[in-house]
Amino acid sequence: MQQSFVMIKSDGVQRGLVGEIISRFEKKGFILLEAKLATPSRATVEEHYAEHKGRPYFQELVDFILEGPVMAMVVEGENVIEVIRLMVGDKDPRKAMPGTIRGDFANTMTKNIIHASDAVDTAEREIKIWFSK
Ligand code: PPS
Repeated sequence: MQQSFVMIKSDGVQRGLVGEIISRFEKKGFILLEAKLATPSRATVEEHYAEHKGRPYFQELVDFILEGPVMAMVVEGENVIEVIRLMVGDKDPRKAMPGTIRGDFANTMTKNIIHASDAVDTAEREIKIWFSK
């Protein structure tokens, strides 16, 4: 069965959206395999977003994630990676459809509530970063 790494970002935790988001995944039929409220180090967040190092938004993104605890999760189910990305919605608030998590709750590019793995190899890499220690 496929697994995805999902992180409710600091804004999602602060706004009390953890229950709402987990509930959407459970209602869809996905299984919450692991979940922890984490206060990651800067090194962990930079490793997670390593492929974005050098992009103009990188520093702002890392600083934002470090603003407070995040909810790190492993979610399991059939086609979970693709389906959760659909449920999350576009990172650009102008393109995030109503009914998606970002479409319903986010209106900025950086403070966009949630991260979800975009491919099988990315999910494996991210689960190792957040859950092997
Ligand atoms: S890209 O632009 O195609 O590389 O985008 P993507 O692969 O989806 O990942 C970009 C991640 O950085 C977050 N982020 C931003 N992206 C683009 N522009 C700005 N200004 C920006 N600010 C933050 C974006 O949400 C993606 O993070 P995750 O956590 O994967 O959603």
